[in-house]
Order: sequence, then C-alpha cells, then structure tokens
Amino acid sequence: MGAEIDLSTSDLSGIVADIAEEMKAAPDRGTPAAYIPPLAKVDPAKFGMAVIEADGTCHLAGDAEETFSIQSISKVFALTLALGHVGDQLWKRVGREPSGSAFNSIVQLEFEHGIPRNPFINAGAIVVADILLGRNEPREAIGEMLRFVRTLAGEDDIVIDREVADAEAATGYRNAALASYMRSFGNIHHDVERTLGVYFHACALAMSCRQLALAGRYLMAGGMLPSTGRRIVSAQRARRINALMMTCGHYDGSGEFAFRVGLPGKSGVGGGILAIVPGRASVAVWSPGLNERGNSQLGTLALERLVQRTGWSVF
Ligand code: DON
Repeated sequence: MGAEIDLSTSDLSGIVADIAEEMKAAPDRGTPAAYIPPLAKVDPAKFGMAVIEADGTCHLAGDAEETFSIQSISKVFALTLALGHVGDQLWKRVGREPSGSAFNSIVQLEFEHGIPRNPFINAGAIVVADILLGRNEPREAIGEMLRFVRTLAGEDDIVIDREVADAEAATGYRNAALASYMRSFGNIHHDVERTLGVYFHACALAMSCRQLALAGRYLMAGGMLPSTGRRIVSAQRARRINALMMTCGHYDGSGEFAFRVGLPGKSGVGGGILAIVPGRASVAVWSPGLNERGNSQLGTLALERLVQRTGWSVF
C-alpha cells in the first residue's frame, strides 16, 4: 500500500463529494459506446461514485443510485462463478496474460490456437460463459449468474436489462465470430448461440454504483462477504482475481490504469469501473463517456483523484 493518509469517515465523505462535484463539471467527458444502441442513449452528463469501506461505511455521490449496464464488469463475477464450477481446470482453456489488444480483438486467437489471453477480454469471457453453461440450459446458467450477483450485493432487486441483452445479440457479429472461431479449435463446447446467450445476458446486468461496490466487497475482504461472514472464494483466489483485474481489467489500457490509479479494476463499455482497495474499500464509479480504449474517461479520472487523496494505490 502506498503512503496511506489517516482519514476519518467525514474526510472520506468529503473527498467523494468533491470528486463528484469536479466530475459533474468536467468538460471532456469522452464518448458513450455507440455499437450497442441502448448504451448510446444514456445521458453523458451522468456521474456516480460509491465507496464502501471494510467496516461497511458507505459513501455515495452523484448518480450513485442510478442503474447502468455493467457490461464487461460482469466478467469478474462470471470468472468467480466458473472457477467455483471447474476450479483451476479453467486455466487450460483461458490464459492469464494481458492481451495488449482491444477488448474484442480476434488476432491472437489464430496463433494461440483458440486459447484467449485472459478471462477479461471478450474471447476469454465467452469461454467462461461456455463453462457456466456446463450441462445446463442457458436460462439456468443466466439465473445462476443473477442469483450470484444478488448474493454478493446482498440485494434482491438486481435485474438483467432485456433491451440491452437483445441489442447485443442483434449486433454481436464480432462476438459470434470470436465464439465460432474458438469452437473451430474445440475451445467452445456448446452451440455458439447458446454460449453467447449466457455471455450477452451477463453483460446486460443493470446495477447502480452502490450495488456494484457492494458486490465487489468479497475481493476487498480476502474472499469473504463481510456482511455475513460467508466465504465466497479462498483468500488465494481473491488475490489472484485481483491480480488479473490489475493486469488485464482495462484491455490495452491496463498499463495506463495501473500507472494512473494503481488498483485492481475492471471496466465496462457502459462506463462503469469496479476498483478494489484490498483490505480497505470496494469502489464503483460510472460515467458513460469512454476514452479511445473503451474505458470510462471520467471514471478513471475520478479513481485517480481518489488514490491521490487517500494514498490507496497498492504501490
Ligand atoms: O461484448 C461486448 O461487446 C460487450 N457486451 C461488453 C464489452 C465491454 O464492456 C468491453 N469493455 N470495455
């Protein structure tokens, strides 16, 4: 942990409020994703932030209670669930290296024989969805994913946005190409449409910053759900998921995110980012405008400000 600053609860509330104020007024907000039509309709002026401390104290600012499409942030929860199903066998089908490529890139799959670089690029998450499908019907796998996220957040009203899931299926030619290509190498075991159905529905989970920060607490707390004391994953697995978030959570912008923020983080094209401060806090930010790498422009800046003022970088 970097040079940590001694913070009271009211200091932290003030910091979160200041950051939201600054972000609300920021002129350069990036561009919302346009390739999934319902995402293009979201108001780019939105900004929300939620910080949940290890003792459960919750700091909210801006649009922290408004739900948005968590998109690729779901890849963290899907990976956690799939590791629970098949354990470390999963790593025979998915790598653990940063890709250095765009989130939906296909190039590496040819010379790496259909094994995606990591579980947080689309190709890797599609293999994870194939594992979640297992012997189930897609709607059972989707139901399991939804129940899991509700358990992590401790809230029952989290839903999947049907409009987003349908729009992704209607426009997901590249994901279909990735899945078909991996199937040709034997690394997708089910019909491509069934596997993609699980993947698209996970991406279409709608959550607020507050719910997302709640759902990330097990990664802050060594694999335990602090509110119930229930173990979700071993401490080793939580550490490893955090390591993957640090190295691969922002695609070809992962190095830049580690440089600027220095926390395990996972972004989504809906403009959300989940960031983990191990032992200290679970943080979620949302601003729909994206930078050129597909990561939330102001979300990243807000997290950069947070670590500047708290000393929470892991470095
Ligand atoms: O597969 C897609 O295109 C989306 N459902 C998820 C992509 C995503 O969030 C990438 N993130 N930055």
